[in-house]
Amino acid sequence: MTDQTITSVSREHRKFRPSAEFKAQANLGSDAAYKRLYAESVNSPEKFWGRQAKEFLSWRKPFKRVLDWKLPHAKWFGGGQLNVAENCLDRHLGTARENKAALIFEGEPGDVRTLTYKQLHREVCRFAAALARLGLVKGDRVAIYMPMVPEAVVAMLACARLGAVHTVIFGGFSSESIKDRVNDCKAKLIITADGGWRRGKIVELKANVDRAVVNTPSVEHVIVLRRTGQLVEMTEGRDRWWHEFVAGVPAEHAAKAFDSEHPLFILYTSGSTGKPKGVLHTTAGYLLGVTMTTKHVFDLKETDVYFCTADIGWVTGHSYVVYGPLANGATVFMYEGAPNHPEPDRFWEMIDRHGVTIFYTAPTAIRAFMRWGDDYVKRHSLKSLRLLGSVGEPINPEAWMWYHNLIGKKRCPIVDTWWQTETGAIMVSPLPGITPTKPGSCTRPYFGVVPVILDEKGVAVPKGSGGRLFLAKPWPSMLRTLWGDDDRFKKQYWTELEGYYFAGDGARFDEDGYLWVVGRIDDVLNVSGHRIGTAEVESALVSHPAVAEAATVGRPDALKGHALVCFVTLKNGSLASPELKEALRAHVAKEIGALARPDDVRFAAGLPKTRSGKIMRRILKEIAGGGDVKGDITTLEDFSVVAALQSEE
Ligand code: WTA
Repeated sequence: MTDQTITSVSREHRKFRPSAEFKAQANLGSDAAYKRLYAESVNSPEKFWGRQAKEFLSWRKPFKRVLDWKLPHAKWFGGGQLNVAENCLDRHLGTARENKAALIFEGEPGDVRTLTYKQLHREVCRFAAALARLGLVKGDRVAIYMPMVPEAVVAMLACARLGAVHTVIFGGFSSESIKDRVNDCKAKLIITADGGWRRGKIVELKANVDRAVVNTPSVEHVIVLRRTGQLVEMTEGRDRWWHEFVAGVPAEHAAKAFDSEHPLFILYTSGSTGKPKGVLHTTAGYLLGVTMTTKHVFDLKETDVYFCTADIGWVTGHSYVVYGPLANGATVFMYEGAPNHPEPDRFWEMIDRHGVTIFYTAPTAIRAFMRWGDDYVKRHSLKSLRLLGSVGEPINPEAWMWYHNLIGKKRCPIVDTWWQTETGAIMVSPLPGITPTKPGSCTRPYFGVVPVILDEKGVAVPKGSGGRLFLAKPWPSMLRTLWGDDDRFKKQYWTELEGYYFAGDGARFDEDGYLWVVGRIDDVLNVSGHRIGTAEVESALVSHPAVAEAATVGRPDALKGHALVCFVTLKNGSLASPELKEALRAHVAKEIGALARPDDVRFAAGLPKTRSGKIMRRILKEIAGGGDVKGDITTLEDFSVVAALQSEE
């Protein structure tokens, strides 16, 4: 944990009030209602959450207790039983939603498929039944490494239906990352595809799995969806094609009910030490959090066509492509490929063609759209849109204004939603129709959420000053632990200040009590909206035979948020060269995935260290940013290192 004060330079004064039309139709339409419910949610949380859990979820067995809180372990809705897949599918059958589109899918090559709730239910039941025949039982772990296709959703829901615990691995990750994650949770099964489409090219998913499973003793079977059609190797006895696996299996599966705290999924996320953290979410609390926030924050209506651009490999894809929208009976639009294929107007073209009404994306994507040029947007009407959302990193006011003017045509409210893999669901966000927005602020807390900003000593900072963001109360969709590492869970989130959840972000409240999140304060960078631990990149670098030591820092980047700049010292006998630079970039991409490919690799004779041997990243950050090295460097062991690094440029 670095000891830094957070200075916040943004002083944004523009304010946008919800329009009367929007307000009149909003699911939560009055500030008084928000304030009343918020007060109840923090003053009588058990009463509040107990009522919501009855209203929003379908229970097989009613819960007896709302919260059992033994810091830092929460148990929500004890004694209750339910099935997540039933909540997302079965409960819509026999209602007007039965033949409504659950998923409208568009592949990158342009293939479109629609699955109604009834059809999706059938596919999930069939796949769940086939998995049960394979011997998969409650509690087994299943890795899902798939492109953004409907079968990815089918796989997740089938696991949930069986009580198996899924861990979705982003399709951009490498075989090394698959291996680490699969071994950490000891998955029995991997569900993948031959490949996925990305910018007209095939992402070789099966080949990556093949390389990983050589070193994953727990894996018994691999199920392979045929998507891209190229030749892949199938290992007899271990690998099965999806279509053969389900052929002849009746689409019937009686779902069992599971305890409220039964594990639903593990999702790996970057932390500030090398190893990714397996964030564990459980059944009832998670589902309640995502179901309520989808309804309230996105003002979801029966007629909406909802498009969240996140991949299911990230928490946003779990909570706001799959579980939240489907539990609400929404129509989810799902797209497989790149936003600029075949042209940079792909999203806008699809929004018009499918009549998308709600659009949820990330600031890094918005900055890319801005760079590609307004003309691509202006070719399309975008008149179906009524609400916009942002997530993943602080949205800079310039991007916010562009989003508001060019995409929202000044008509659509923007919900800037702050939350994390660990929080499961949106924690801080405007409520459309209620909350006046300010470009760059995620505004006010959602029900039950009590954000506090504290200084290094744990004292609340005055309004307008920056500090570290904590959450003061447990909430239903909170992470329960880190898979297999409860000590790290306690250490990471609950020991900075006794009784408070440490979010790892810097933030401030403005004079209206609005929250402004400025970004991570640990060694985690936001690269294109993805959390990447600098330690992970460093450990990938030092795994290369030429590298002795490595330090990775972020350089502010207009498009990606952070660009990854790596400083490496070489082992004796290795020579710095442009080829080695490229080889190291490729090595990191291979070890972690292309998303972590360093933007720049710099060779150094030495790294700036304190006398106790700690790398002084602050100095490297300044050098990476091209600026002078300012501030105190008296703790630096060897001054010549800095001079040498600067002359390297
Ligand atoms: C950042 C993504 C500012 C923040 C859901 C957080 C944000 C991390 C916002 C979590 C936002 C996310 N404004 N910063 N609206 N949303 N962040 O786990 O630093 O991938 O801690 O979850 O992204 O990233 P994660």
